[in-house]
Amino acid sequence: MVKNLQKVFFPGTENEKHILKNVSLKVYDGDFISVIGNNGAGKSTLLNTIAGTLSADAGKIVLDNHNMVKRPVSYRARWMSRVFQDPKMGTAGDLSVAENLVLAQDHTNTFSLRRFRRVDRWNRYQELLKTLNMGLENRLETQVKYLSGGQRQALSLLMATLSKPKLLLLDEHTAALDPKTSRDVMDITREIVTHEGLTTMMITHKMSDALKYGNRLIMVQDGQIKLDVRGEEKQNLKSEDLVKLFQD
Ligand SMILES: Nc1ncnc2c1ncn2[C@@H]1O[C@H](COP(=O)(O)OP(=O)(O)O)[C@@H](O)[C@H]1O
Ligand SMILES: [Mg+2]
Repeated sequence: MVKNLQKVFFPGTENEKHILKNVSLKVYDGDFISVIGNNGAGKSTLLNTIAGTLSADAGKIVLDNHNMVKRPVSYRARWMSRVFQDPKMGTAGDLSVAENLVLAQDHTNTFSLRRFRRVDRWNRYQELLKTLNMGLENRLETQVKYLSGGQRQALSLLMATLSKPKLLLLDEHTAALDPKTSRDVMDITREIVTHEGLTTMMITHKMSDALKYGNRLIMVQDGQIKLDVRGEEKQNLKSEDLVKLFQD
């Protein structure tokens, strides 16, 4: 739950900009929310403020009855995971696929890298990678820098969701991929999110993806939530409706 969240850039100067204006959003368990809005509307600022990479100037961010708003990113990371637009952000290029998965699974346990060959883990990773349908199950020992953008982003998703976060934050995570790969990664996203029942906020610049994926859609405009629809109301929404709202 986000309550009366405010973010001001350059406060007290002539460049003062109110980016989040009293944003409140009740997120329900299992919600898969598509977030759309014009460039500069405040979408990334909203996600960054929730994740803690930006500090809020006012308001609350409550997850599992904990108010996170004053907590550092590292604390919030126990509850939240993120995937960014740049496939390089979520993975370590010089480490192998398996090593990346180990790090994602036990980021608190620095000794486990040496033990990643444990057969049970190896098999589990192979099973998990197989579900991505990207041929990664045979490339556990490949350094991640040699993977394609789509493979790397699919791996980022798997890593972000391995420890079942309470909240998954996706910021245009398919925007850097070609159209076909973008579709594949979106379908993987839906598969993981629904299979694990993950509560998810996904920013996308593609209206068609916002309409197609998720049970709920919000539109951010000028630092406020302009539209918030869910369920049937979302299913009945057409791209014309969104275009019209964008123009208002
Ligand atoms: N760190 C920052 N410092 C100053 N202004 C920023 C910063 N980050 C974003 N902004 C500004 O805040 C506004 C909203 O940005 P952002 O949340 O990234 O928009 P969106 O993701 O919806 O495109 C933009 O006008 C942007 O220039
Ligand atoms: Mg953005």
